[in-house]
Amino acid sequence: MIARSSAWLLSQFVSSALAISFNVPATPPENASKQLSAAPVGVSLEFFTFPGYINDVPATSTCLENLKDLTGTWPPMRIGGTTQDRATYDAASTEPVTYSVDDPADAPLTLTYGPSFIALASEYAGSVVLGLNRRLNDIANTISAASLAVAEMGNLRAIELGNEPNFFTSSDPIAQGSPWTASADYASQISWQDAVAGNLSSTDLFSAGVYFGTDPMSIADLAAEEVEAGTNGYVKEYSSHNYPQSQNTANLAALMSHSGIADNIAPFRAEIEAADAVGKGHVFGETNSATQGGGGISPTFGAALWIVDYVMQLVSMGTEALYFHQGTIGNCQYCWWGRYTTGAPYYGAYFATMALAHADQIAPLDDQSSSLAAYAIYQGGSPVKVLLYNSAYYTSGTRPSETFTLTGLASSTVTAKRLTAPYSTSRVDRGESPTVAGQTFGNGDCGVLGEEVVESVDVQGGQASFTVGASEALLVYL
Ligand SMILES: *[C@@H]1O[C@H](CO)[C@@H](O)[C@H](O)[C@H]1NC(C)=O
Ligand SMILES: *[C@@H]1O[C@H](CO)[C@@H](O)[C@H](O)[C@H]1NC(C)=O
Repeated sequence: MIARSSAWLLSQFVSSALAISFNVPATPPENASKQLSAAPVGVSLEFFTFPGYINDVPATSTCLENLKDLTGTWPPMRIGGTTQDRATYDAASTEPVTYSVDDPADAPLTLTYGPSFIALASEYAGSVVLGLNRRLNDIANTISAASLAVAEMGNLRAIELGNEPNFFTSSDPIAQGSPWTASADYASQISWQDAVAGNLSSTDLFSAGVYFGTDPMSIADLAAEEVEAGTNGYVKEYSSHNYPQSQNTANLAALMSHSGIADNIAPFRAEIEAADAVGKGHVFGETNSATQGGGGISPTFGAALWIVDYVMQLVSMGTEALYFHQGTIGNCQYCWWGRYTTGAPYYGAYFATMALAHADQIAPLDDQSSSLAAYAIYQGGSPVKVLLYNSAYYTSGTRPSETFTLTGLASSTVTAKRLTAPYSTSRVDRGESPTVAGQTFGNGDCGVLGEEVVESVDVQGGQASFTVGASEALLVYL
């Protein structure tokens, strides 16, 4: 560990420092979150690639373990995605998955999976949400897989019945030739839950909804129908999917913008509240920066900063976990790690996990209308950390910075760990790695490298100031 003084810090930022001040409430304020879960930052592994991530990508276990080492809880895992609705269970197969593709960068259009797929999922040390097929309308097949999962997976958190059914069409087998409307999906989810849970004699089993966005199908409407039908007891939690940017309109400055994130997630508040109103939790069962990998913005440091603020804003709103999607191995710009590099977004996931580790509640201190964010993080009712984020987009020239002053501090010295990189656009595979408290993660193995740099700042009269450069975040330990 290398200690650096605040004088050193100030010398790093010579230009245009502005100032903003926040009082840190001594007890959780009115807009503090509900109790946080032990590990809100999770991963979603695309269904067909799940065995590959576990068996063929050495970084997988260490990248996940690094996060576990921060919180004491393995990050939750969801196995699913588009290919869950192309997959058929084959009880006789000796392979975890069987498929063929013309190009290794492609996802298969059809696949089968065997009992060893479920055995492999049962070996993960954290909880698992398993995504099963509804689109192909073979309920007996899905019940066979679900029965084995319930019997074998001590770590099973929930089962999904279909992925993003808002994209199903009248030509999908489940639609049986009829238009696939919101009410058709609600009725289908409910009758499938009834049949699957009935055959398995289970309750609290499903991660329901699994909608991309909030329209035309919504958790608010589905939850109301579940209560009406008497099936809400089969539901473990309600799940939303979200990708703020698309491949065609990818805009990094918009992605990482603090106020932009608030605007992007605003429609999900009603979904989270609707789940809560029927006594269920809410998760983002699949999310990442941009659909289809995102036209170049997804592997950047700006996407890492997006992860940090997006997680903080959504857990503040009451979602319990976010599963960041990891797609085709070797063809996945937003993926956190692969066979050769540990990407910039992983640094954001690690930093967000650091911020929330062992925390009970988080409270936004700002009104989320500017580029600057501050969160107070509470443990046992007292503030233990403050997260500061300067979301100004920075790609060249002298780095502007902001001075954040915190008041109401109880100790005489505080420490801080910084998430930084040369630019918002920096990428590990182009030689510009981010650092978390001065450290990096090994490419190919995800091991923690380098000496930890912990900054130290004096508190005077209960107040201390911190300099946060454009496109940086700072975690202050009170
Ligand atoms: C079991 O599933 C079948 C569909 O395969 C369904 O018709 C039946 O009602 C289910 N049984 C129970 C007890 O829910
Ligand atoms: C949270 O509450 C504080 C007052 O305690 C207020 O200043 C801040 O703007 C609020 N932020 C949000 C996002 O509700």
